[in-house]
Amino acid sequence: MPTRPAPIPFDPSFEVAEEDEEKSILELIETLRSISEKTYADSGHALRSVHAKSHGIINAELRVLEDLPEALAQGLFAQPGSYPVVMRLSTTPGDVLDDNVSTPRGLALKVVGVNGPRLPGSEGDVSQDFVLVNGPTFNAPGIKGFLKNLKLLARTTDVAEGLKKGLSFALRGIESVIEKAGGKSATLIALGGHPETHILGETFYSQAPLLYGRYVAKLLVAPVSSGLVALKNAAIDMTDRPDALRAAVSEHFASSGAEWELRVQLLTNRDTMPIEDASIPWPEDESPYLPVARIIASAQPTFSEKSNDASDHALAFSPWQGLAAHRPLGSIMRARKASYEMSRRFRAEHSSAIPAELEVRAEVED
Ligand code: HEM
Repeated sequence: MPTRPAPIPFDPSFEVAEEDEEKSILELIETLRSISEKTYADSGHALRSVHAKSHGIINAELRVLEDLPEALAQGLFAQPGSYPVVMRLSTTPGDVLDDNVSTPRGLALKVVGVNGPRLPGSEGDVSQDFVLVNGPTFNAPGIKGFLKNLKLLARTTDVAEGLKKGLSFALRGIESVIEKAGGKSATLIALGGHPETHILGETFYSQAPLLYGRYVAKLLVAPVSSGLVALKNAAIDMTDRPDALRAAVSEHFASSGAEWELRVQLLTNRDTMPIEDASIPWPEDESPYLPVARIIASAQPTFSEKSNDASDHALAFSPWQGLAAHRPLGSIMRARKASYEMSRRFRAEHSSAIPAELEVRAEVED
């Protein structure tokens, strides 16, 4: 078997603040808040600033694999064991759109009941969250670039839905031309150019790195059960079906379970695997994603208006809710701390369902 380069232990010098980072983060928070304020004024509901629409909440079990080598047996994955996990599927915009405005997809995981020293601000929590999107890289290298994209998105928050549908249809056309020419436009996809495919066939990535115990890693969740693998790139008819993704997830889980693998990619080369630029994929030929856990779900109801009110709005995920051993790293990750806190606070202040860890614990224990 070829020997791979050893993972590089983390050193604080790996993180370098962006120029004017604090100022950009404040502007980012202001822009995110303006999105939630607009959707609240329009709908009377306090929604997440991004990833507002939920396509299903799945209760599952995370099983840490046995006999992991030292480099992979870190943090939450240091010991074999099993934990309840709550999973929320979403799409990226801050407003709740018909699914034929097709956008990137998110998967947030809350692994409940983990032990160990916690991240600052998360001392009272009980979970380890992983907050993922269905592409290997982020749409901008750092905070300034993301702020530019977000401002463009924020300007579309109030645009009439009919217009967005037209825009989305046109963008999918343009996107497929760009893809045929060998490129992919993250901005066009974010505005509605994502292919109309089944959300359960997706692989979800952390995109940005996190501490992995002594080391540094990126992380993904990939479908492995045959029922899920068959849904990869499976087309979904979204014509006149505003909640087609929600229906597709419910339909799958009405009769079947699902199994995913959680894999990590260890940082082994500081030149090709940057921490401060989340738009660069780490080469998988240098360091492949390796399995550390399985996530197993049984057949179950995944969405109802009642459960949406009771649990979706009460749930709050953040990469900064978790163990110190999995501290998020790099500028995009640093910007997420105060951003998620703001969005969670906005939802708590404007809604009767308070996003809190305690509610999750109660749900899981029921
Ligand atoms: C500077 C970069 C980013 C900012 C400012 C940001 C901000 C936010 C905010 C404010 C929320 C709503 C949180 C809530 O109200 O509970 C959110 C949700 C979410 N974000 Fe990010 N995000 C960023 C990058 C990312 C990245 C890199 C990913 C994944 C690769 C990601 C995936 C998600 C997902 C999946 C959700 C929905 C969580 C849920 O289901 O509740 N975000 N983001």
